[in-house]
Amino acid sequence: MKVLARSTPTIVNAAFNQLQMWDGRKSSLEEQALGPFGADEQNLPLEELERRVQSIPGYGPMFAEAYPGEAITRTTIAKAIASFERTVLSDDSPFDAWVAGDQDALSPAARRGFDLFVGKANCSACHQGFNFSDNGFHNIGVRDHGTPDPGRFALKKLPSLQGAFKTPTLRDIALTAPYMHNGCYDTLEEVVAHYVRGGDVKDHLSPNVRPLQLSAQEQSDLVAFMRSLTSAPRVVSVPALPR
Ligand code: HEC
Repeated sequence: MKVLARSTPTIVNAAFNQLQMWDGRKSSLEEQALGPFGADEQNLPLEELERRVQSIPGYGPMFAEAYPGEAITRTTIAKAIASFERTVLSDDSPFDAWVAGDQDALSPAARRGFDLFVGKANCSACHQGFNFSDNGFHNIGVRDHGTPDPGRFALKKLPSLQGAFKTPTLRDIALTAPYMHNGCYDTLEEVVAHYVRGGDVKDHLSPNVRPLQLSAQEQSDLVAFMRSLTSAPRVVSVPALPR
């Protein structure tokens, strides 16, 4: 039950991220998958992980089929976890149905919200493309409690990366509260209010974050649009685990 420094990033559509984690410190899902075995999370040394998986006879043939010529090691275990994560996708929301031509798939409020998102509210400067992310790192003025989190700057010492975090996907965003790298907002309304204020911390703030003139109606339209990015739940059944 240790409290970690950052909020858990969503794995929804993580397959599309060029870099993983809020600060991009992991370059692939395979590399990321081994991180949480460390002391802060699962506390399972990788030698012990390998020993345990190797000791389950049923895994032998399954790994041999999936990774011919490779043993059961941390490398193949990471590949297997990453392959599962790549199946956790969100791509058939009401918004997608509307893009595909179903005029009734979006409420008028969500349609107005989309216009604002790509227009006056300037959200698509960063949340762009199929996955609503430019895969870039930006400081949007989120206030940390305690020591400010350097974000991407810890890995790349460019002034503009001070307090910068990866643009997260907005797909399934209604399902993944709390929001931001530190989980400081519980609702999408609070997130929109953050952008209307033009952020809270102005040091190294992205030039694309400026106070917005949005009426209460326009703010709720933006939220309606973001809610329209929710795909139908996909059932993942727990497989019969090998013994
Ligand atoms: C300058 C680039 C940029 C712009 C412009 C921008 N965002 Fe973001 N957005 C980000 C980044 C980066 C984060 C993560 C910041 C953090 O955690 O410190 C984020 C976080 C979010 C989150 C929380 C996502 C999560 O998983 O926690 C939502 C929701 C969001 N933005 C919606 C919007 C909306 C709506 C707009 C327009 C009003 C907007 N963004 C404009 C870059 C941007």
